[in-house]
Amino acid sequence: MSMKIPFIKNNQEDDELINLSENIPNHVAIIMDGNGRWAESRRLPRIAGHKEGVKAVMKVVRAANDANVKVLTLYAFSTENWNRPKSEIDFLMKLPKEFLHIYLPELMANNVRIETIGNFDALPAHTQKTVQYAINKTKTNDGLLLNFALNYGSRYEIMRAIKQIMNDVDGNKVSLDSLGEEEFSKYLYTNGLSDPDLLIRTSGEKRLSNFLLWQLAYSEFWFTDVLWPDMDENTFNKAIQDYQKRKRRYGGI
Ligand code: FPP
Repeated sequence: MSMKIPFIKNNQEDDELINLSENIPNHVAIIMDGNGRWAESRRLPRIAGHKEGVKAVMKVVRAANDANVKVLTLYAFSTENWNRPKSEIDFLMKLPKEFLHIYLPELMANNVRIETIGNFDALPAHTQKTVQYAINKTKTNDGLLLNFALNYGSRYEIMRAIKQIMNDVDGNKVSLDSLGEEEFSKYLYTNGLSDPDLLIRTSGEKRLSNFLLWQLAYSEFWFTDVLWPDMDENTFNKAIQDYQKRKRRYGGI
């Protein structure tokens, strides 16, 4: 097991500690849902839920790092989220700055690398600038990969891949006859990453919402009623413990 500087631990109960020598998912993907309901139940504006959600992001990063997870992909903004009120979108677009301002030093100290998937160029310039700074700053870190899905939509990603493949067929860079699943995967934003082993969705909703449709083909799913701002190490570890009990068969027996 590799030596790590442990993150500062929140209160953790013994039964929520996980056995690190047993079947840890390499890649965990999370649909962070329930910020709005968290806020509404407290008679707060929806953005208060998003603000609180930023703290939950860091709790889960710490937990994933402690669990020796290698890739953590978080659905932070979907291509459909542009349908929200402008004021909420503007707030969401400022969250990366808020997150990085507080936590980048801790992420650096723990060797975390930041990356994104999604249509990055269509994000507001200020969001691109902040996130690009963090990507550059952390690019040689070789610990946990913290992968934000920002302006991400799976159908868009697949269509984009098809268009690029058609271009490459035209340019004789790829032949349709030899194109297989592995080659196709290289045209997706997730090129180079293994598929998620475990998908977590919070807030009791049980749908994929256009997230990683290709990549989740054989992933294990875990749902919780916990609203994202209440997500913490203990709930994350419960998901890992449950995953550790699953038998993955990939269509075999
Ligand atoms: C879904 O909850 C959540 C989002 C659309 C935004 C998720 C963003 C964060 C958790 C913070 C991201 C942090 C960084 C660092 C980028 P919802 O608003 O749909 O909740 P509801 O279903 O209860 O209305």
